[in-house]
Amino acid sequence: MDLFSPITLGDYALTNRIVMAPMTRSRADYQGVPSPLAVDYYASRADAGLLITEGTAPSAAGLGYARTPGIFTPDQIAA
Ligand SMILES: Cc1cc2nc3c(=O)[nH]c(=O)nc-3n(C[C@H](O)[C@H](O)[C@H](O)COP(=O)(O)O)c2cc1C
Repeated sequence: MDLFSPITLGDYALTNRIVMAPMTRSRADYQGVPSPLAVDYYASRADAGLLITEGTAPSAAGLGYARTPGIFTPDQIAA
């Protein structure tokens, strides 16, 4: 067993044991809409066994930082 060996965590079969913790990346736009920067960011780390993405605000009151994603407007939901 090593860092690069597979593991099953609950329902998830991971190809390796590298897990990225959630972090605030501030790559959405100022309206909280996820941007292509987020696609580049997570795609470039997709070899990890599991990526836990950043928190996503369910309402305007839930936004903690500038340029964090939300999921309370039609544009955010579509993105
Ligand atoms: C929504 C969310 C956002 C986070 N953003 C960051 C961040 O931007 N930078 C950071 O160092 N840790 C952030 N954390 C904490 C990390 O996930 C992690 O717990 C922390 O870096 C300590 O790592 P450790 O638990 O392996 O010691 C965030 C956690 C959550 C739940």
